[in-house]
Amino acid sequence: NNYALIMAGGVGSRFWPVSRTTYPKQFLDVLGTGKSLIQNTFERFKKIVPVENIYILTNENYFDLVKEQLPELIDNQIIGEPIMRNTAPCIAYGCYKIKQLDKDAQIVVAPSDHLILETENFVNIINKALVASKEHKCLITLGIKPSRPDTGYGYIQYSEETITDNLHKVKTFTEKPSLEIAQTFLDSGDFLWNSGIFIWSVGEIIKAFDTYLPDMSEIFRDGKSHYNSKSEKEFIQSAFQKCTNISIDYGIMEKADNVYVMPSEFGWSDLGTWSSVYDLADKDYVGNAVINAEKVVMYNSSNCMVNVPQDKVVILNGLHDFIVVESNNMLMICPRSEEQHVKQVVADVKHKF
Ligand code: GDD
Ligand code: MG
Repeated sequence: NNYALIMAGGVGSRFWPVSRTTYPKQFLDVLGTGKSLIQNTFERFKKIVPVENIYILTNENYFDLVKEQLPELIDNQIIGEPIMRNTAPCIAYGCYKIKQLDKDAQIVVAPSDHLILETENFVNIINKALVASKEHKCLITLGIKPSRPDTGYGYIQYSEETITDNLHKVKTFTEKPSLEIAQTFLDSGDFLWNSGIFIWSVGEIIKAFDTYLPDMSEIFRDGKSHYNSKSEKEFIQSAFQKCTNISIDYGIMEKADNVYVMPSEFGWSDLGTWSSVYDLADKDYVGNAVINAEKVVMYNSSNCMVNVPQDKVVILNGLHDFIVVESNNMLMICPRSEEQHVKQVVADVKHKF
């Protein structure tokens, strides 16, 4: 049977100050669609797998938030991690838990905080990948045609040949390269971005954990008798303490030799930064985008994005290419070109206020 594991434990720190540790980006309606990103993700996966086979991997602090936003789920489908250890441990946990229910499971693992505009294409591609990963016993990732040398992504070099319709062998996988290297990849033309959406059989991914992250694999294998039972929570508390902090991209995807990519187009955006929201937002004729706010006045200003509470009066004068964001009584003003630094700034100011 097919299962979906939706990862929703990140804190979205580049979206500060709107995305906060207590209310991260996946729970927000970043683009004003009327639904949060995780709700939209859940709706998409309902078109692919039965509701009872959808699991949310999140931090235990967000358990109630997930329950509130996705009331169709029962508690066993919301997996709370006691501490943040990045994506490899949560995926290992989720896959072992599913294996205990169904040793032949086919799994799609996906982030909860992406925008996907073309649902029908998305559904078709995932369905194809679910079939192909079973048939070819491989790990599949969906690849996106890159448009800029973004250093926040994984880069996939793939071979021209296909083993089946639209499925290419991955030659190299490089997670978050430097700007220089990202530019070289972009120029060469034979790279794709890793979308972070993975498709595999439970057997193949556990084999990969055994090979590349054997300690982690052992930790979660030991939970066999606890999964989907009362003692699961207690087991997990101690299991996560023992895990190293590593993402699936560094831990497995860069190293495994049976990785394949399906070049995909479904109106994807990672919504990773304010600029990506700016790119998608409605803009006036000089490129200014105003989100949420209703009382913004701009003079001689262009290509700015303003996202402040509705009743806030904001005046911009002579400002170009800036982001102005306010939330929870915190105001951030930052040139759009500097926004990759927001992550570090947040880490820094957290201790101060
Ligand atoms: N449950 C859980 N626990 N989820 C987590 C954790 C964790 O400790 N850490 C992150 N997540 C969730 C995030 O909420 C997000 O939905 C997803 O896992 C991916 O994590 P990010 O932190 O957003 O990763 P990234 O954007 O830096 O990089 C990944 O995605 C890119 C595409 O958006 C990588 O897979 C890149 O290779 C890829 O290009
Ligand atoms: Mg991300």
